[in-house]
Amino acid sequence: MSKNQITHFNNINEKNQSETLIVPVIKHEGFALDLADANANKLFQDTLKNEDLSSDGQITILHTPKSLFPDFKYLRIICLGLGDAKKSDTNSIRKSAGALGRYFLNSKVEGVNFFVDSLSFYDDKETVIESLMEGFFLGNYNFDKYKNKKSKKKNFFEITCSDSKLETSKIVNKSFEKSEAEKIARNLVNEPANFLTPTKLSEIALDFSNKNLSCKILDKDQCQKLGMNAFLGVSQGSIEEPKLIHLSYKPLPEDSSYWYIGKAITFDSGGLSLKPSGSMFSMKGDMGGAASVIASINAIANLGINVNIDVLCLATENMPSGSAQRPSDVVEAMDGTFIEVENTDAEGRLTLADAITYAKTFDPKFIIDVATLTGAASIGLGKGNISAFSNDEDFMENVKIAGEKSGDFVWQLPLDSVSKKQNNSSIADIKNTGGRLAGTITAAHFINHFVGDIPWVHLDIAANSMTSSNEGWHNKGATGIPTRLLIELAYIFEK
Ligand code: BES
Ligand code: MN
Ligand code: ZN
Repeated sequence: MSKNQITHFNNINEKNQSETLIVPVIKHEGFALDLADANANKLFQDTLKNEDLSSDGQITILHTPKSLFPDFKYLRIICLGLGDAKKSDTNSIRKSAGALGRYFLNSKVEGVNFFVDSLSFYDDKETVIESLMEGFFLGNYNFDKYKNKKSKKKNFFEITCSDSKLETSKIVNKSFEKSEAEKIARNLVNEPANFLTPTKLSEIALDFSNKNLSCKILDKDQCQKLGMNAFLGVSQGSIEEPKLIHLSYKPLPEDSSYWYIGKAITFDSGGLSLKPSGSMFSMKGDMGGAASVIASINAIANLGINVNIDVLCLATENMPSGSAQRPSDVVEAMDGTFIEVENTDAEGRLTLADAITYAKTFDPKFIIDVATLTGAASIGLGKGNISAFSNDEDFMENVKIAGEKSGDFVWQLPLDSVSKKQNNSSIADIKNTGGRLAGTITAAHFINHFVGDIPWVHLDIAANSMTSSNEGWHNKGATGIPTRLLIELAYIFEK
């Protein structure tokens, strides 16, 4: 995947001018904005008097042709509604801006300039501008790699405001880096599994490595020597070789770090516990956790956030074949736990078990795992929140804050002792399914078994990783969730 395929923008922050001026409009008393050109300003103020331009995500175009506006620098003003000032926040602003980014996918407009004086109303101007730009970049995403007719690249030129204290270009660069990361994750999830095999994913991770970001890949034999039988049991039905992918970013002298682990099933057919075709179709996206952790560490390194992070993904397909794992097989995980495989479609937790044991050999400060783990997560919480679990309330609180900040909202569910028993096996230490009730919770309990006392948060993103419609800063297909949450979390750890 070539890196310039990720975004539809170039020329970030070139001090240059386009023919289109974007002006955010919010609804509040005394809304004032002065467009330098007298005629253009009159057009804008008169329109504002007669029409409400402020509803969330509303796009209104005011044309300012040279014949009528000889001294105005732009051919059009695009007003972007950001809603009622009292109700709006950084997440609603990102959402509105997403609509603008999406509008630009199919518009002939080639470049944009932003004039953000209207945002000076907000106390936290920097985060507001950051969210605005994030939404704009993220809404402007589609996956057109396999279309012969590609979307045209757009130019983003400059963001201006009269407040000279605001370092707008610094803010925009940060938004851009975070948005690019989320788009990298989306691209990985949208890639079909015949292209994105475990080997390919490991090559892409290796491609990201540089002098600040190291990458180690282990092959099947090396995983076997480590005793990763839970992981390898999942892969044994596939002709694709499994890979362990370990990225490491260590700006600090100490060795210990925060571990981001991503579920990396490049295709989940269910194995011999085969999925019906309707449920199987979206399973190229069963590496959404891996996509987000890989994309986030790349951005964390690019942004130079001062915190040690390790990323780990145990990549494999889950396929049925003559060599596939059978329902009722027992495997000995890397930590010595015997697992009864009741259902080969509960494969993610088997790979995560060995991932966590491997991470624990490096004495992690904290582990967060991100996994498209259970269909039950959609039933429980729908798409509005990521299902979260933890054995450490302080870390959980930080993840919730990062969720609020990024708009990748999380909601904590309990690790209760009643549902824990559902994982009891009659012939082994534990089994990989816990029955119909509380499917998201029993999956989390299973992972918790391998975590032990290490501070840990588990994010089940099965409901959130892909979407079937355009909404806010997400377009149909992969969302890239929770890439920006993971970047915000690194900023929190940095403090
Ligand atoms: N990858 C699936 C979960 C999933 C479902 C992700 C829908 C995204 C959308 C996971 O491996 C799975 O198959 N889980 C089973 C577990 C069951 C067999 C205990 C499920 O949720 O049905
Ligand atoms: Mn499965
Ligand atoms: Zn799966």
